[in-house]
Amino acid sequence: MCGIVGYSGCRTAYPLLMQGLHRLEYRGYDSAGVALMADAEEKIKVYKATGKVADLEAVAENQDCRGTVGIAHTRWATHGAPNTPNAHPHLSESGNLTLVHNGIIENYATLREQLRAKGYHFRSETDTEVLIQLIEYTEVSRGVSLQDAVRMALSKVIGAYAIIVMDRRAPGVLVAARKSSPMVIGLGENDSEFFIASDASPIAEYTRRMVYLNDEEMAVCVPGQPLSVVTLQNAEVAVDVQHVDLDLNMLEKGGYDHFMLKEIFDQPQCLEDCMRGRVLLNHKRVILSAVTEHRQALVNARRFLFVSCGTSWHAGLIGGQLIEHFCRVPAQVMYASEFRYSNPVVGPGDVVVAISQSGETADTLAAMQIARDAGATLLGVVNAVGSSIARLSDAGAYIHVGPEIGVASTKAFTGQVTVLTMMALAIAREKGSVSDCEYEQTIEELVRIPDKIQTILNQHDEIRRVAEHYKLASNVLYLGRGANYPVAMEGALKLKEISYIHAEGYPAAEMKHGPIALIDENMPVVFIATHQHIYEKTISNMQEVVARKGRILAIVTEGDTQVRQMAEHVIEVPETIDCLVPLLSVVPLQILAYYIAVGKGLDVDQPRNLAKSVTVE
Ligand code: M6R
Repeated sequence: MCGIVGYSGCRTAYPLLMQGLHRLEYRGYDSAGVALMADAEEKIKVYKATGKVADLEAVAENQDCRGTVGIAHTRWATHGAPNTPNAHPHLSESGNLTLVHNGIIENYATLREQLRAKGYHFRSETDTEVLIQLIEYTEVSRGVSLQDAVRMALSKVIGAYAIIVMDRRAPGVLVAARKSSPMVIGLGENDSEFFIASDASPIAEYTRRMVYLNDEEMAVCVPGQPLSVVTLQNAEVAVDVQHVDLDLNMLEKGGYDHFMLKEIFDQPQCLEDCMRGRVLLNHKRVILSAVTEHRQALVNARRFLFVSCGTSWHAGLIGGQLIEHFCRVPAQVMYASEFRYSNPVVGPGDVVVAISQSGETADTLAAMQIARDAGATLLGVVNAVGSSIARLSDAGAYIHVGPEIGVASTKAFTGQVTVLTMMALAIAREKGSVSDCEYEQTIEELVRIPDKIQTILNQHDEIRRVAEHYKLASNVLYLGRGANYPVAMEGALKLKEISYIHAEGYPAAEMKHGPIALIDENMPVVFIATHQHIYEKTISNMQEVVARKGRILAIVTEGDTQVRQMAEHVIEVPETIDCLVPLLSVVPLQILAYYIAVGKGLDVDQPRNLAKSVTVE
């Protein structure tokens, strides 16, 4: 989704802004732009391009890119097509002000009509241009400073925003503000320079001292002066400087062709990091601070309600199964987008678990706010440290798998499932709802999972060869039962996201209630048929496909012979206990989707139309 970078200080802004935009490319976007300022006597220079940041660099090449202050943006189209006029930054009527914006101004159409009536002109179809015109109109008509004009204009706006405003008449000054869309300000030595961005990744190489703006806060950055933060009501806010550790090597591809492949291969290490200090094998214990600190609420919960989107929702389905299995408490799993508008029955006694890689998903945040207002306890399972969901949670557990750059989520999914397993075990232990034997056996098996994933990764060449057979398919059905049903849906989502092949994940037994009509000799069916208590039932469903001549690719447990007789292709995963099967069975499906997409020559890390962080509803 859209990304923002801004800089003001003593360095030349342009290369720094471009490097920042490259670091934000993982979020997914369809156009990019930059605004630069050399001094107050000159016009603000704006360069824009549709396509990639490299296309913007081509446009700006041989142009005047001087100046030590600037703002830049990658746009993921919401209002108006992905074309150059709609790309940010947008200029105000006079050309004195320019703005980059993440989010959506919901009342933009009304505001635009009001501004048109005052003589303002619009060169784009965007809500963003309305905002910069509104700021200028407020400044001129009320005779107030830029800072006051930004505050007053934002108070008229309905919607979500993270913005930076730059003023030709005030070289060096950048005004940033946020509501429901993240914004972080990096501080240079002695306040000599400021780095502003929509997440820490584009600015972490310059500073680790960061200030995260809260909703409805505005920051004024003037090099040489301390950062000033006020609320939209103009109340001063104490500046909370945090030290943010971000491993920049983790942002590089490390020799892999794509971030997605690196992230798939990183999973053994990531899961070890995720469990470090939490799974104490010697003591046969799982310790999660969220559970220790919120013991009462969690042990006495009348229900666990999981809210999330996409891959994180699939992790939620597994989380629900784990909670019911270990804690014997009802669990409900909802898409955050459905929950928020469902007039939900939720309140004190409920624990709402929000799962999110980015920690910024708009629907998940809105669902949490509803649960918070109703008095539920909020637990966050998040990857991005310091993100909005992490901060809105009463308690939480980071998944600690490092930044995920590939748009298709892989290591975040297995990290989420690992955290949810630890969480269910830790709560069950406190409740006394799990036997010592099962608790200890699950812990022992959990720590073996990274090595077992490694044995699957070692088969990637074989999986690549299998993928060759499926790259021309136009539909694929994924079937699994029990814990492998969410895995079937996750496998299907991975395939459709990056290969653009239509795929559906279904509970295997449900096939006969409809999808079986699709089965013929051209229809590939991916069965996840690992050894579980419902293995034999899955085999029966497979027979139904064989009888209709469907082509079967099966994920099986090592040494399985029964399925081999029915399937065209078989990929083996190591044996494990039922509740941990998804951590293994999902991995070959990730690799399969990856190689099918690569075989089709597609952009695996930035698939069309998708954004890494979905900050609009
Ligand atoms: O950042 P989140 O985990 O909240 O994101 C939720 C979904 O947008 C995300 O999982 C999406 O489905 C991914 N592209 C899946 O690969």
